Amino acid sequence: MNESHHKIISWGGREFILFKKTFSPKESSLAFLKIDFNSLVGIFKCTLVDLCCGCGVLGISVFKRNPQLFTNLFLFDNSDDALVSSRTNLDFHNVDAKIYKWSAGELVNLKGPMIVLCNPPFVPLKEFKTDEPNWIKDSIYGGEDGLKIVRKVFMSLENTDCTLVLKNRKKQLSVLKNEILNFNFLKSIPINDETCLSIWMNTRFEKAFESF
Ligand SMILES: C[S@@+](CC[C@H](N)C(=O)[O-])C[C@H]1O[C@@H](n2cnc3c(N)ncnc32)[C@H](O)[C@@H]1O
Repeated sequence: MNESHHKIISWGGREFILFKKTFSPKESSLAFLKIDFNSLVGIFKCTLVDLCCGCGVLGISVFKRNPQLFTNLFLFDNSDDALVSSRTNLDFHNVDAKIYKWSAGELVNLKGPMIVLCNPPFVPLKEFKTDEPNWIKDSIYGGEDGLKIVRKVFMSLENTDCTLVLKNRKKQLSVLKNEILNFNFLKSIPINDETCLSIWMNTRFEKAFESF
């Protein structure tokens, strides 16, 4: 591996390798590790999915910390550098997982119950610094209201039996609750003044379960 093309960072007590144009995980995202996944998964094991995975930090960390809960892991991103970083980190942490090149809005074709982690780009236009390099823009910028990619993420999950744990701005929650009708908003967990994790369940599968 060429030294100048990667760096090693420590996050959540583990080391991760980042290739040059890969988003560096934030301390605020450590909130994903504090979620009680036992209560979200229920009594069965299920699949773990990391959408907008970057270097794979969320999926790998949550998977390694909850070996009793998750049967398999899938990572998705649209950036080649992110996917190379994810592959390197999966090998480094000895985790067997599938990685897909995927663009938000494309359907996620996975069957069975799953927990989906997602830290998408959600910075709105008015806060975006235009002098940032393109790859940073692609990692954090979410359009006019910051929700352009988030909306596509919900579309991608419309056929999946999923519970989604999404990082977003607190201010964006009311818009999402009004707009996203095919998911039940379960709760939000504040991270700091600006951001939170919001938890959503696909109503299509909830209904199927209730009528069973
Ligand atoms: C904020 S970073 C999060 C990375 C990682 N999950 C983390 O928490 O460190 C957002 C990621 O979304 C990816 N991304 C941006 N736009 C995307 C799109 N339209 N479709 C798929 N992935 C996208 C970027 O490549 C980047 O890796």
